[in-house]
Amino acid sequence: MNTAICPGSFDPITNGHLDIINRSAKVFDEVVVGVLINPEKKGLFNVDERVELIKKVVKNIPNVRVESFSGLLIDFMKKKHIKVIVKGLRAVSDFEYEFQMSVMNKKLDPDIETVFMMSSAMNSFLSSSSVKQVAMFGGCIKGLVPEEIIPDIIEKINGMYKNY
Ligand code: PNS
Repeated sequence: MNTAICPGSFDPITNGHLDIINRSAKVFDEVVVGVLINPEKKGLFNVDERVELIKKVVKNIPNVRVESFSGLLIDFMKKKHIKVIVKGLRAVSDFEYEFQMSVMNKKLDPDIETVFMMSSAMNSFLSSSSVKQVAMFGGCIKGLVPEEIIPDIIEKINGMYKNY
């Protein structure tokens, strides 16, 4: 089975992520969406919530499953017998960071390949951080994230700020 992993923080998943996951699912037999458990970075959603939001939006893609991981990505991949990482590349600004990560992963495990997919033009400047910022200030996030998770994002943000 030709399996790939789409790793990331996904706090929360955006239409840009979903586009890459969808397109990867057409190229590979199986795609694992790997959500990083990062104790150093407190996000808007905890990891279990992020996994649930992703599951909600990929439920109709039969060859996609969602898992969380901690530690090195390549160690998780070894455990799951995955050899390919798929990353989306947005604007040129992504290149240096992604290049650095792919070189590091290659150094850690030469059997691993990183495949880059160009983001669709409309998602080129879309990020989880910009979605959170827009939502926090009451802007419209329609078209930026999957429709079915908009209420979860709004509810979470309203919950965070209700005491202010
Ligand atoms: O969505 P993000 O935050 O750009 O995703 C980054 C991610 C999770 C892919 C990356 O930080 C990662 O793989 N972290 C796990 C730790 C690791 O393996 N580091 C070595 C590569 S530099």
